[in-house]
Amino acid sequence: MQIPLLDLTSQYKSIKSEIDEAIEQVLNNGTFILGENVRRLEEEIAHFIGTGFGIGVASGTDALELSLTALGIGEGDEVITTPFTFIATAEAICAVGAKPVFIDIDLDTYNIDPQKVREYLRKAQSAKRRAIKALIPVHLYGQTCLMDELCEITKEYKIKMVEDCAQAIGAECRGKKVGSFGDCAGFSFFPSKNLGAYGDGGMVLTNNPEVAATLKMLRAHGSSKKYFHKIKGRNSRLDELQAAILRVKLKKISGWNQARIKYANLYNTLFSKQELEKEIILPKSQGDRLHIYHLYCIRVKNRDKLKEFLAANGVSCAIHYPLGIHLQEVYKNLGYKNGDLPNSELASSQILALPLYPEMSIEQIEYVVDKINSFYSKGA
Ligand SMILES: Cc1ncc(COP(=O)(O)O)c(C=O)c1O
Repeated sequence: MQIPLLDLTSQYKSIKSEIDEAIEQVLNNGTFILGENVRRLEEEIAHFIGTGFGIGVASGTDALELSLTALGIGEGDEVITTPFTFIATAEAICAVGAKPVFIDIDLDTYNIDPQKVREYLRKAQSAKRRAIKALIPVHLYGQTCLMDELCEITKEYKIKMVEDCAQAIGAECRGKKVGSFGDCAGFSFFPSKNLGAYGDGGMVLTNNPEVAATLKMLRAHGSSKKYFHKIKGRNSRLDELQAAILRVKLKKISGWNQARIKYANLYNTLFSKQELEKEIILPKSQGDRLHIYHLYCIRVKNRDKLKEFLAANGVSCAIHYPLGIHLQEVYKNLGYKNGDLPNSELASSQILALPLYPEMSIEQIEYVVDKINSFYSKGA
């Protein structure tokens, strides 16, 4: 049996007629930039998440960068975030001229640890360091951060919050969707995301009308009236074809997320039956939060050997992420070293994403668990 990490072709086949029709309509209509589909998708996603405004942009990375700019974060500022995320989170901070400050994660959720954020801000305040202007929590793998605690902290220390929701569309914290907590939230429509386009795309959500108006200008050369440029902007627009595709897929997202949750629960049940908990740390989903399993990640000691064994048996797995951002070569000027953020470093050495996508079959999940079981029964 061959089991890919995810299978975008089988998803396309399951919705082919609707997608083809949506694309054809755009081609026949002849409007390709900022037309009706972008406008309606912005409304539909804002409504789905529960915010006032949506602003379609060219990528999730741009969504984060433009959010920071719109909130006035720039040169000389510092922004707190997690080291255990995709590089784009830190890139967005550096792109506006600010400096990333990495705070370690907690090992239950793999998300930034609110206690450590609080401790850092407390110390910075006593040292009268006032450069910290924002926090970017990342809802990694589709698991929400501890939002009550983080919102309390940003309020107390009067700093902005930009949620990185690239991996978490539809995830919830006490019945409220992520993306509705921060001053802004950035979403990615990269093809492999739970709501993926057939190319790049992203969106910012916000409840603030002034910030929304600024973002609309930033993505379109700093202008709200053609050929009159009020602020420094650039070209970062979501295109009509992608928006038309995403509007079809948005109608399916809750069902797809439910299928992911069902399969993640099945993995958990099968692993427990095999009594593999000694070998494998399973993902933890907290009762009051809806984890939408963009990735189903386990943690194991002999990760690289297990990955090789599974590949030899037709199962594709992936490592998100093998090296924390604080230790990446590109950021060596920030001065972090091995051992500075131990939870993130431990996760990097042990994490493994198993195949998970809505179109999977129960037999495929059983096969993956069987293979992992046989790896450990051989005394690996
Ligand atoms: C956590 C996180 N943040 C930001 C991004 C950037 O999104 P994009 O690839 O659409 O620029 C991604 C995805 O690739 C991501 O996983």
